[in-house]
Parts: sequence; C-alpha cells; structure tokens
Amino acid sequence: MTKPIILTGDRTTGPLHIGHYAGSLRNRLRFQDSHEQFLLLADTQALTDHAHDPAKVRRSVIEVALDYLAVGIDPAKSTICLQSHLPALAELSMLYLNFVTVARLERNPTIKDEIQARGFGRNVPAGFLCYPAAQAADITAFKATRVPVGADQAPLIEQTNEIVRRINAAAGAAILPKAEAIIPKSGRLPGIDGKAKMSKSGGNAIALSASPAAISAAVRAMFTDPGHLRVEDPGEVEGNVVFTYLDAFDEDQEAVASLKAQYRRGGLGDALLKRRLEDILQALIAPIRQRREDFAKHPDYVLDVIRAGTEMARARTEATKREVVEGLGLFTL
Ligand code: TRP
Repeated sequence: MTKPIILTGDRTTGPLHIGHYAGSLRNRLRFQDSHEQFLLLADTQALTDHAHDPAKVRRSVIEVALDYLAVGIDPAKSTICLQSHLPALAELSMLYLNFVTVARLERNPTIKDEIQARGFGRNVPAGFLCYPAAQAADITAFKATRVPVGADQAPLIEQTNEIVRRINAAAGAAILPKAEAIIPKSGRLPGIDGKAKMSKSGGNAIALSASPAAISAAVRAMFTDPGHLRVEDPGEVEGNVVFTYLDAFDEDQEAVASLKAQYRRGGLGDALLKRRLEDILQALIAPIRQRREDFAKHPDYVLDVIRAGTEMARARTEATKREVVEGLGLFTL
C-alpha cells in the first residue's frame, strides 16, 4: 500500500512559534509515520511580502529547518525541501496563472485579509496577489492529497482545487488529485495580547526557541479578563488568552473545564491560572529548545538534510510538471 502524500510548508520569514506548533506542526509530527510527507521551506513565497528584506528570508531558511528538526520532524520519514530550488514549482505557477482570474485572486478570503493586514491597498505586489496559484503549484507538484495547515489557509486549498479542476478539464484527464486541508479543531491560536494572529512581527508570539525568561514574561503579560480585578470576582473565559492556550496545550482537559467553571463563578485568580499555563509551556518548549541548540551546533548536517530533501523533491516535481505539460498538449522538444 502506498501512503497518502502530504505537502505543507512555512514561509521563511523568521523562527516558528507555538501558534505554528498548535496549528500544524503537531499534526505533521503525527502524520510522518502514516504518510509520505514533504515539508516546504517556502522562501519564494516569503519574498511575496518580504522583497524589502531578502537577507531575512535567506537566514530564516535555516531557522525554520531548525524548528522542524527541533520539534521532532525526522528527515528519515519526512522530506524537508527548499521552494526556490525546485524550478518545476515556478514553472507550474506560471502555467496555473492562466487558469485563474485576477478577480478570483482578489476575492480569496486569505489574500483579502492579508492585503488588509499589511496595508497594501492597490500597491499589493503582483507576486503576493498571485501566491495562491504558486501554492497550488506546491501542493499539486507533489500530488499531495492532504495539507495540514492553520485555519487561515483553508481558502488557499479551495482555490488549489479549482485550479486542479481546470487543469484536469483542459487536459481531459485526471492528472492532478484534489487536496484536502487538515485543520486542527482548536482554531487559530491568538497572540498573547488577544489579537487574532500570533506573529513575530506583531511582538505577541512565543517562539519555539523562547528562553525560560521569555516564556515567563510572555505568560505574565498575557491578556485575561480586564474586568476580573479581584480573585473573588466572576471572570470571563471567552477571549481570555490563558484559557485559550490551556485549551490548546493542557493535556488534562477535564481539569481545564473545572477551572473554567470556577473562574466564571469567581474565586480563581489569574496568578494561579498563569502558573499552570507557564509550567505547561516551559515543559513543552524546554526539550524543543534543547534539541534546537544541539542541531544549531551542526550547520553542515542541517544543510545536508535540506540538500538531500530538495534533490528528492526535484525528481518528484519535475515528473508532475512533465505530465501537466504533456497533458495540456503543449509543445515539447
Ligand atoms: N502559505 C504558507 C504559510 O504562510 C506556506 C506555504 C507555502 C504552504 N506553500 C505551501 C503551506 C503549500 C501549505 C502548502 O506559512
């Protein structure tokens, strides 16, 4: 039996944080035994909103690779590869752009939100507007049928499947498979300030490489219920970041449910809750940080992992590109 194929990835714009962990890394760890899994270091996509800082995009390739290895992605089971070094992805992107309209790209909810968040307005880089077609190229070039991502990425998978339908229709054959997004039930982890998106640039993230002191400081600064002034006061659980994180990371969900009930009634202080969360996060991150430091001492090993993975991915993606070109009946020499 061949294993189902997974392709997923991360823009290389900085080290990953616990939002990535809860949102998709955890799923990818689970899937590496049961699936053939490819992890894409998306440096080309990173440029779509970081053209002003290519040095950061370059540096972050290693940062993200270190994060993958540190959380337990095993290169013997999962293939880590570099987007910019897989020419078939760029070629398929160009092809797919002819199978999607500007209006459809502009309507994509992910793109719409991201354009707004970055304040691009009409000055959106064309590469950014078009990255859903590139992401469709990433996914289909590997013939992936499952894509573990955060909830914000769902519209991109939907648009991928539209492109798949069009290419298959144009080719008159089912060359490309449809893909399914695998999204964690818990939804997107908010930043420590309660804002919807955790991001390093927003200063509201906890990195997977965070020091013990940084973890403490982040938990101390975490948004709770501003109306919950005294321990005996009833407090709000919804929108309370400490509870949202306990939902995501506390293995004892029964205890969390009873803490919520007690908080709502009154009689449970923020300090106690935060101590519980801090212990959980320190225990989660400590081994990741340790492994990350160990791998960082062996940069040649990390480079070898990326090189070998990229080579393996190159064969795979070139084969799909050939099939698409031939399927569409384009000229070939
Ligand atoms: N868009 C993803 C992110 O912002 C990165 C990415 C690039 C990706 N190509 C992909 C994710 C293909 C899943 C599948 O992090």
